[in-house]
Amino acid sequence: MRSEQSPQLVRPPVPDTAAATAVAHPNIALVKYWGKRDEQLFLPRTDSLSMTLDIFPTTTRVRLAPRADKDTVTFNGRAATGEALRRIVAFLELVRERAGRAHRAVVDTANTVPTGAGLASSASGFAALAVAAAAAYGLGDDATALSRLARRGSGSASRSLFGGFALWHAGSSTGTAAQADLSSYAEPVPAARLDPALVVAVLDAGPKAVSSRAAMRRTVDTSPLYEPWARSSGDDLRDMVAALRRGDLDAVGEVAERNALGMHATMLAARPAVRYMAPASLTVLDSVLQLRRDGIGAWATMDAGPNVKVLCRRADAGKVAAAVRGAAPGCSVHIAGPGPGARLLAGDGR
Ligand code: DP6
Repeated sequence: MRSEQSPQLVRPPVPDTAAATAVAHPNIALVKYWGKRDEQLFLPRTDSLSMTLDIFPTTTRVRLAPRADKDTVTFNGRAATGEALRRIVAFLELVRERAGRAHRAVVDTANTVPTGAGLASSASGFAALAVAAAAAYGLGDDATALSRLARRGSGSASRSLFGGFALWHAGSSTGTAAQADLSSYAEPVPAARLDPALVVAVLDAGPKAVSSRAAMRRTVDTSPLYEPWARSSGDDLRDMVAALRRGDLDAVGEVAERNALGMHATMLAARPAVRYMAPASLTVLDSVLQLRRDGIGAWATMDAGPNVKVLCRRADAGKVAAAVRGAAPGCSVHIAGPGPGARLLAGDGR
């Protein structure tokens, strides 16, 4: 990870009042992460692969506060509380442990994505926090290490370190916990020229009823469909990597859609069921089928919420957005392309 201002590494020692600002974008998984094998270390059951978006960035500033006795966190100018605060403080504890420094921090986050609506706000959020906190505490800027660090805030954040397409390795499941931790990180995936767009239909921007963390735990623990999906996800990943390499957007879309619908099937079979799809989600899924019948390459994916993201060619994005709007009047539709990886802002972003 490089500063825009200077290509040099950020090295300790850092001053007591060090501050750094980073920006990161959300990513949408085309082969999903759903299920952990280690909740403490955020080690996933399966490999996953995503596209980082060029919309909805999160900007986070971390400033060391040598005289403070606790961390202060604000989201869009409002003090963070409850679970959101707890997760960030736990993440800062990890950074402090690695840096060997006790200073508390002041964290300011500006999020442009609706929080908690299955639009990957935790991915951009923890990627930006990892990059800014690592710089402020003098942890260095190795991209793999930052991806592993971001993973500990939210698994999907490990992928937002990178622009374009990124593959998060589940990592080795033999050996010690420390070895497993070292082996689970994301890296960029080579892709031939594709010119993709993701049309994001926001059907409901409110927070979800069941967090993805709780939902994936319940799915792994109770769904009879989980193991078959996890196995087939390995085939999906192999097919996805090959499709990206040869620039075959039709295959990318087909694999993404089957993987996402399979993930939702695992949740529907959980006990009790987790259902994120709303009636409007199904209407949008129908419109995607109709687009394909009309000869337009469009494939749907969904995460832990009712919103639908439609992969298509950039040139078709306007038509796809119009079809989605027609299917779910009143929804807000955003067109995203592949976006950049997380980065430090020059001059502390001020
Ligand atoms: C459906 O990364 O939000 O978006 O690791 O518990 O924070 P935690 O979960 P999170 O889960 C994302 C799940 C998903 C699929 C994906 O992004 O791969």
